Formats: sequence, structure tokens, C-alpha cells
Amino acid sequence: MSFQVSPRRAIRDAFAYQPGKSIASVQRELGLKTVVKLASNENPLGPAPRALAAYRRAEKFSALYPEGASPELRSALARHHGVPPESVIVGNGSDEIIRLLCEAFLEPEDEAVVSQYAFIRFKQQASMMGARVVEVPMTDWTHDLSLMAKAASPRTKLIFVANPNNPTGTFNTQEEIEGLLEAAPKTSLIVLDEAYWHYARAIPGYPASLPDLVARHSNLVVLRTFSKAYGLAGLRVGYGVGNPELVSWLDRIRMPFNVSLPAQRACVEALKDEAFVRRSVALNEVQRALVARALGDMGLGVGDSATNFVFARAPMPGRELFKALLRQGVIVRPLDEYGLPQHARVSVGTPAQNKALFAALRRVLAVPA
Ligand SMILES: Cc1ncc(COP(=O)(O)O)c(C=O)c1O
Repeated sequence: MSFQVSPRRAIRDAFAYQPGKSIASVQRELGLKTVVKLASNENPLGPAPRALAAYRRAEKFSALYPEGASPELRSALARHHGVPPESVIVGNGSDEIIRLLCEAFLEPEDEAVVSQYAFIRFKQQASMMGARVVEVPMTDWTHDLSLMAKAASPRTKLIFVANPNNPTGTFNTQEEIEGLLEAAPKTSLIVLDEAYWHYARAIPGYPASLPDLVARHSNLVVLRTFSKAYGLAGLRVGYGVGNPELVSWLDRIRMPFNVSLPAQRACVEALKDEAFVRRSVALNEVQRALVARALGDMGLGVGDSATNFVFARAPMPGRELFKALLRQGVIVRPLDEYGLPQHARVSVGTPAQNKALFAALRRVLAVPA
């Protein structure tokens, strides 16, 4: 029996997000016992311990609906960033906030400006609203914010900037971000997605967006996530900080109970686990340098990274490299969906995981040990 109900036009043309391959699926498909996943920029140290303890304590409330607006977490985030609670919206991952922004602001006749190799969810979500996506070329694998400002028109509702960017790992400076805020129309909302903030914050020139820039610009919203340095990707919690009026629009259209109670409680505690975050960032710093050097020595082209992954040009098509490494039990991320068939993205792991990556790469590329 054929299905005859037609979906919205924008959905028909939409392409689904391709998540990194899971450990369980590789174990099943290839019959491998040990699989190392370096494909989704997760924290290789696991969840923040204080968060995990709070999660377990909250399990007993699982029969009850959570408070929909995540009030305790919202207040904790407001204190953490020195902003009023009305400026904070908590989402089911920062991914939900990206979706809410598109749903709240994009009519089919509107435009969203993104750069060519920006985090792909911006483009996907905007096109699902039927809006026109204006793609602006990068300069040196970095968002060219003056070109992006020039590309904005009176129809531009959203300008997306992932800083640092996934998958290129590059970042824009405070001066560049301030330049965009000056030059862009005040009728365009600038979405500054700082998912990798913890890994970039100490780099000279990296912007201090919260609370200053948000206080000074009503058309700026900053996104952060618990999925990276806090090690809580599986709990799905992210948030946005912006003008209270913007937040109230997003609040109106979010799912009534978008974040589970254990996840809300875990994130309140995660914010206090500074020691864990410091350990995670320090490990990443050391291991990222090792990964970049090893990949470079094996003939891959590796760019500077302000994140917990490296962006690499492979000596073979990225998809071939991905498949060959998969057979060795290591999952990396090919980037054909970004129009980058020669590249791959490799998350930084623990020392043991990275050693497994190097051994697998040596076998795949036939490099002597
Ligand atoms: C730049 C960027 N933004 C947002 C996200 C989504 O994160 P979350 O897990 O909070 O939905 C990711 C995930 O990798 C990302 O790389």
C-alpha cells in the first residue's frame, strides 16, 4: 500500500543530519569487540562526576513531569554568566535552540546567512522552514564575517556563526565579532554558537561574549552546550543567552517538557564541577597537539584547532579513510555532507584511544611504525 499524504515542500527537499556512527552499530556490523569512537567530539573522560551523582539522585522522580522551563538550571546559568534568568533558555541540546530560532523567525521569504563550511545544522534547519540559505565563502577555512555582513539583506533574519566552527576548528576574534555586530542590520539576529567555548576561551583574541556582548546588543544570542567539556552529550542539554524578549518567543514554542528532570539536576551540578572541566580541557590540549603531529607525520594536512577535534585533509577520499579505519575498529567522521570529500574530522580521545587511532592509521596508510 503506497503512502499518499504529501509532506511540506521544504521537508521534501530536506536532507537529514548524518550523526557519527555509534560504537554499538560498528560492533554489530563488523563483529568487532573493541571500538574507539572519535567521531562526535564527545568528552573522552565521560560525564562530570558531580553531574552523574545528581543524575542518579534524581532517578526516583522519574514518575513526575519535570518543571518545563528548567527554573533551577536557568537560575544557575544566570548566576554563572552574570545575566538575568529571563535572558536564558534551556533546550534539548543546543540543537533544539537552533531549531527554535529557525521556527520562531524564518518565513519562507526570509533568508539565513551562513558560511560555506559552517556547522551543517544551521543550513539544514533553515531550509526546513523553506527559507533561502545564503552561503558565504570562507577565508582560510574561517568564517569571513565582513563578507557575511555584506551578504545580509533586509530579508535576513538569522546570521549563524559557530565560534569555533565545526568541522573546520577555526575561530573568529573579538574584533571580528564586534565588526559583524556593527555592520549587520539590526533586524538580523546574530546567532553565536559557542559549543566549543571551553576549549577556545584561553586563546588570545577569542571573544568574551557573555555577559558583555549580549548586554550591549539586543540582536545577539549566544548558544552553549553541556555536550562537550561537561561530558553530557547523552543527556541533551544546551542553552541560549539573549534578549529577554527573544527568549520569551522561544519559550512560547518549545516543547512543554523539553529537558528531563535528571538532566536538569545533572547540569546544575556540572556547572560546579570546575575541576572536571579543567582536567578535560588540559587533557584535550596535550592530546590534540599529539594527534595533530601524528596525523601530519603520516601525510595528512592538519589545520590549527581551537576545539576538541582536528580537521584533516586525507591522502585518500575521506570516506575511504573512514571505511578503512572502521575495519580497524576506529570511527572518525568523513565530511562529504559538507562538500569536503577529501577531508575527515577526528575527535581528540584519551591517550589510549589516540594510540589506537595512530596504530590503525599506520596500518591503513602502510606507514612503518
Ligand atoms: C558547533 C556546534 N553547535 C551545536 C552542536 C549541538 O550540540 P548539542 O549536543 O548541544 O545539541 C554541535 C555538536 O556537535 C556543534 O558542533
